Amino acid sequence: MPSIADQLSGLLGDAFASIELPRELGRVTPSTKSGTAPFQCNGAMPAAKQAKRNPREIAQAILDAIAGSEMIASADVAGPGFINLTPAQTVFEARARDIAGDDRAGAITTDAPRKILIDFGGPNVAKPMHVGHLRSSVLGDSLQRLFRFRGDEVLSDIHLGDWGLQMGHLITELREEQPDLVYYDADFAGDYPSEPPVDIEDLARLYPLASQKAKADEARLAVSRAATAELQSGRVGYLALLRHFINVSIAALKKDFGDLGVHFDLWKGESDVDPLIADMVADFKERGVAELSEGAWIIRVDEESDKKELAPLILVTSGGASLYGTTDLATILDRKANFDPDLTLYVVDSAQGNHFQQVFRAAQKAGLADAAALDHVNFGSVNGTDGKRLRTRDGGTFRLADLISSAIERADQRLKEAGLAENMDEDEHAAVARMVGLAAIKFADLQNYRTTNYVFDLDRFTSFEGKTGPYLLYAAVRVKSLLRKAADQNVVSGEINPVAAEERDLVLALDAFGSAVETSCENRAPNTLCDHAFGLAQAFSKFYAACPILGAQDDATKASRLALAAATLKQLELCLDLLGMEAPDRM
Ligand code: ARG
Repeated sequence: MPSIADQLSGLLGDAFASIELPRELGRVTPSTKSGTAPFQCNGAMPAAKQAKRNPREIAQAILDAIAGSEMIASADVAGPGFINLTPAQTVFEARARDIAGDDRAGAITTDAPRKILIDFGGPNVAKPMHVGHLRSSVLGDSLQRLFRFRGDEVLSDIHLGDWGLQMGHLITELREEQPDLVYYDADFAGDYPSEPPVDIEDLARLYPLASQKAKADEARLAVSRAATAELQSGRVGYLALLRHFINVSIAALKKDFGDLGVHFDLWKGESDVDPLIADMVADFKERGVAELSEGAWIIRVDEESDKKELAPLILVTSGGASLYGTTDLATILDRKANFDPDLTLYVVDSAQGNHFQQVFRAAQKAGLADAAALDHVNFGSVNGTDGKRLRTRDGGTFRLADLISSAIERADQRLKEAGLAENMDEDEHAAVARMVGLAAIKFADLQNYRTTNYVFDLDRFTSFEGKTGPYLLYAAVRVKSLLRKAADQNVVSGEINPVAAEERDLVLALDAFGSAVETSCENRAPNTLCDHAFGLAQAFSKFYAACPILGAQDDATKASRLALAAATLKQLELCLDLLGMEAPDRM
């Protein structure tokens, strides 16, 4: 069943059409002001402009056209021509019962599903993941859940950074430590060992060491560059090493992402598209997409209307290496061949805006993809309380694993302070602290519109009061315990009859779920869904305070209110799931 807002939009659309005005003007939305009629339509004002008539007159004509509709309890015109609408009791009832009986808690699926590829996470092999990767992961994961729920076909790809200079650094540094490894013997003809010569700790140590040395010493940088070029031109020993580095990294990343509750369909990386690069470059040269400039092959992407100069994309350096833009273009080809997405979302830091503009324009120019089908879902930075990008106390970048464990620790303290999760065994308690800690960091991130920078403040994020993840989990837990109590007392759900103002307000809150999902998908930003979930929890809280459930006077009221509570829990849990959060059974 469509939402009440959509049902009313249909009714008012007909009314506008009946007086020869565009149907779209009949769009009805929930009122923004509380204490007024719950819905409004503002179409009379633009209609008046178009038809050169008085807006109040038009609004009155619309009221006349809908007079007698069974859907409307009352309607009036306010101010310059706002139409205020209160739906009939039967509309509230039918919608509440519909939501209660629906697995999707009232959100309809799209009738125009698309194939959407979501490129997010994007950690680099051997480099520690930092808080920017956390933001991409939390946001990207919520987006993949949202689009799937909406009914789109989604494929997610972690797109590992595994083909740049950092690989040359690793190869070079490892050779200094273990020069006798067969991978460095250019004449070696046998099978390379299947056991990796390094573990994740080695990788974490080797990369910073090499990059420091290269910063201090030009000659050393040249060695890493040469190793990168040799790797890229197919030196088998180096390719075998690369495979080890990638496998070791992936194993560690799978654990980190598993802990975070984030899933990827594909674990591909930049290196996977290397086999496509030679043909792609040859094709671009032949068709004149790429041109030679100072020994390098470039694609010019600037346009006359540009306000800021956009540098060309470097396809192949004068030294013969392919760069970040090269692998991104080849990846577009690869994805087209394997999935053929209608839309690709790149969930990456705003700082990479130029890079994506270059790639999208180059892809358009080369005819690989329509620029409109490629979207950089950019996001702002996560800052420390000093307002600068989040760093550890010693000035380094934060590691994801440390960040997660400090959130869980803080959540554990908070539970103790609040006297929650006390009477349970250690395992259950630890599981609750984990859910609370993860919800805290995820919700804190997602509730901001994505381009907003925010301050990482675990104290605030883990609070059980205010607009936080832990507050939402606690709200869900309260309903769960209420439902258990009802079951103990053999109270069963029945037909919903929302009569009290708080009951109807709760139905209105539930009614808005589908539109929150839709807006979150449209903006590629789950903050609207966060607002919805918070509003729903608050509406439930008011309802619960005003309308006794198990203590209600008669059985029908008990059954109705219990059904309303169960519907709220179902929708709240769906919201949490779409945000990548999970509520415990008790706390
Ligand atoms: N590895 C990159 C980084 O750490 C992010 C990759 C984003 N995705 C892409 N297709 N370029 O900055």
